[in-house]
Amino acid sequence: MRIGILTGGGDCPGLNAVIRAVVRSAHLHGDEIVGFRDGWGGVLDGATVELPIERVAGILPRGGTILGTSRRSALEHRDVVRRRFEEQRLDGFIAVGGNGTLFAANELAGEFPIVGVPKTIDNDISGTDRTFGFDTAVHIAAAAIDRLHTTAESHYRNLIVEVMGRNAGWIALHAGLAGGADVILVPERPFDVADVAARVLARRGRGRGFSIIVVAEGATAKDGELVTKGRTDPLGRPLLGGIGHWLEGELEARTRAETRVVVLGHVQRGGTATAYDRVLASRMGQRAHLAVHERRFGTMAALRGPRIELVPLAEATVPNLVPDEELDLAEAFLG
Ligand code: F6P
Repeated sequence: MRIGILTGGGDCPGLNAVIRAVVRSAHLHGDEIVGFRDGWGGVLDGATVELPIERVAGILPRGGTILGTSRRSALEHRDVVRRRFEEQRLDGFIAVGGNGTLFAANELAGEFPIVGVPKTIDNDISGTDRTFGFDTAVHIAAAAIDRLHTTAESHYRNLIVEVMGRNAGWIALHAGLAGGADVILVPERPFDVADVAARVLARRGRGRGFSIIVVAEGATAKDGELVTKGRTDPLGRPLLGGIGHWLEGELEARTRAETRVVVLGHVQRGGTATAYDRVLASRMGQRAHLAVHERRFGTMAALRGPRIELVPLAEATVPNLVPDEELDLAEAFLG
C-alpha cells in the first residue's frame, strides 16, 4: 500500500516518534509512506517527501516534527484533496493532530481513507486516556515550578506560573500537583480572585512566606472573561494568554506582597519527549499504520487503559475537559 502522513496543529514532543513508528511498521509490511509537509498545507500545496526507513533514522529523540506543521485546513478544498490522493496514488492516510486537525480528518473520513492519531500537550482530546506530548509538557512545567519555589521563598513573593492548555486545565492541574502549588486555577472552574487572595494570605498566616499559583491560560475569573492576545489562529480560534499578568496586579494589591508572573509558553512544547511520550507515540504510530493496512478507516489509535485500541475518529471531536471529581480531589493537596 502507499500511505500518506501529515502532522498538523501546534507541534508537540513525540511527533517524530510517531512518524518513525509508522515508517518502521510500514517497512515491515512492505508499505510505502509519503509525508505531506506542514499539515494540511502540504496536501493543498502538493508538498511531499518520501519517507523510506533510512529517512527516520535518528529522529526519535528530536523535538518538533521533521514534516513541519501548520494550522491550515483542507476542509474547503475537497477537490484538491481528491487530486492529491490520485496524484500520489494513496491507499490510505494518517493524520496526526489535535482537535483542529482531527476535526478536519473526521469530516473528510466519509470520502477518504483516513486514520487519526491524537497528539497535543493539552490532553484535551476525547476517546483516548492520554495524548502524547502531555507528559513532556507536565514535566517541563513541574520542573519550572520546582525552580520557582526557591526564588519565591528567598524574596517572600507570590509567584504565578501561567501554563498552556487552551480550554482544558490538564497541564495546570498535573503540573501544579507535581510541583506542590498552593493554588491551581483551571478553565473548568472559574475562580473568585478574593478567594485566591484569601488562600494566599492564609498560607502566609500559617508561616509560609511565599506562594506558588499555577494558572491555566484559559482560566477565567468568575465575573471576568477569557483573556486573549486579541488575535486568532488560522482556524479562527482566539490565541489565549495574559490571565497571569492580570492576576499579578490583583494579587499584589490584595495580599500586599510582591507578586511576579512567569509565562511558560512554547517552552512546554519544545525539545525532546519524555520516555513515556516516546513510547506512547510509538505505540500509537504503529497501531495507526496497522489500522490503515487492515483498511480500518475512520478510526483513531487511542490509549485505553494499558492497551492501544482503535476508536471512531468522531470521538476526537469531543473536547476532553478535567472532570469535577479530579478537581475536588486536587483541592485536598492545595493551600
Ligand atoms: O494546542 C496546543 C497549544 O500549545 C495550546 O496550549 C495553546 O493555546 C496554543 O497551542 C498556542 O498556539 P500557537 O502555537 O499558535 O501559539
